[in-house]
Amino acid sequence: MLLALAVVVSLPWWLPGRVVALRVRVFNRINGDEGIPVPGDLVGIDRFKEVYSHPNASGRSKGAALSDLFWYWLSPGPEMHQEHLEAGERYDAVARTTRGLLAVPRAEAEELTRRCAARTLAGVRGLVRLRDVVMPLWAEFSYELVFAEPCPREARDLIVGNADDVVSSLKCTGLRHMERRRRLTRYLLGRLSQVRIPLPAGLSPQEQAYYLHGAFFTTAVVQMSEATAHLLMVLAQHPGVQDKARTGDDRYLDQVMAETLRLYPLFGIAHRITTGEIPLDEHTAIPAGSVLCFDYPEFHRAGFPDPGHFDPGRFDRPAKELNHIPFGIAANRPCPAWRLAPIAMRAAAREVLHRYALDSSAAHTRSLPNRGPCLLTPMGAPRRVRPALAFMRVRDRWEDVWRSLVQLVLGTYMVWDARRQRLCERHFHHSAEN
Ligand code: HEM
Repeated sequence: MLLALAVVVSLPWWLPGRVVALRVRVFNRINGDEGIPVPGDLVGIDRFKEVYSHPNASGRSKGAALSDLFWYWLSPGPEMHQEHLEAGERYDAVARTTRGLLAVPRAEAEELTRRCAARTLAGVRGLVRLRDVVMPLWAEFSYELVFAEPCPREARDLIVGNADDVVSSLKCTGLRHMERRRRLTRYLLGRLSQVRIPLPAGLSPQEQAYYLHGAFFTTAVVQMSEATAHLLMVLAQHPGVQDKARTGDDRYLDQVMAETLRLYPLFGIAHRITTGEIPLDEHTAIPAGSVLCFDYPEFHRAGFPDPGHFDPGRFDRPAKELNHIPFGIAANRPCPAWRLAPIAMRAAAREVLHRYALDSSAAHTRSLPNRGPCLLTPMGAPRRVRPALAFMRVRDRWEDVWRSLVQLVLGTYMVWDARRQRLCERHFHHSAEN
């Protein structure tokens, strides 16, 4: 009896770790081990950037089983998502449009962020989940980037519904709800003529809607929400950094952001399919058709003393000299929001720091499946954090037990379902036939 009780009480300390290990084994089993890990036995850390930048490391989707899984998670219309398009005319047209929509002067981007923060943070306080708090902000921000007018409530709800559904399924904490996502595509289809710059003329209206849906209402909203949640979690858990960031200059906040994205890069793995051989030395080459899996967290740890420790001071020197690629590699399809995202994130962090004191006792991991539990106390209000933090710690541990089981079951199902649907493989098969 006592033993059973001890097992149950100790669940949060041992079960989640084991379930994660089991999940990785199940995923590998279903997915096969087609990928070449970089860094790994073939390519070391020292050649990580060189291989990532190689012109033959340029295939995006075709020929990798892993792509079926990403297409499944990012549906509908994954064949029109910029990150999944193969190089060519369509890709160029889409990438040009994205650059056009993201080309907002710094002062305008900051002002837009401030306005969206003022609307979406009104009335928010107490125990929250940071990702849920900031997602409406980034939904409104993306909407204004695209349509150059304030986001109506109906559109915000559709965008948040879609982005939350995508990120929950990516983390295997929920299944896909395709109707929720399609409602947003239909809404965008009806508004194509109001987009503030011309959309690629060679695309059908349906394709244009899928493109906008993918780049601006899935990728942009999900990535900005995740990155901001990580940043605010870091501030909540390092009171000294929080105080300094609140009163300090932009340079310090930039260092905090850089260190946050070093420790918690949004990409675990970015994959590329080789379109030709990549020679490594006189005797070895990576063959064409290989799937290269670039491991961001591993790269970001290498070459730093005590790499698991949070230390914004590492970025006293230019980030270019460091193993730090939060927005990808310049030579190989980096993030088009490389310039704009940090400007907007910094402005959003300032808005939050100006309004609240932040505290959190929850686990902070790279995948952040708990969505960043945090106590937001309005500035000037009495700060009674101890009971709230004790409650948060216990709740987070027990949620972790339940969530890890949910992730195991839903993740296994989705990996299996994606293999069954083979969205990417079928798409390229049909294109070859037509
Ligand atoms: C802090 C926020 C963000 C981070 C850390 C981030 C990170 C990244 C990274 C690492 C890549 C390259 C992955 C690879 O090599 O495969 C990427 C690609 C991309 N990102 Fe971002 N991103 C962020 C925000 C955004 C925003 C706001 C947008 C808005 C449209 C965006 C759109 C894209 C697109 C379209 C690609 C694919 C680029 C291509 O293949 O041409 N990202 N992002």
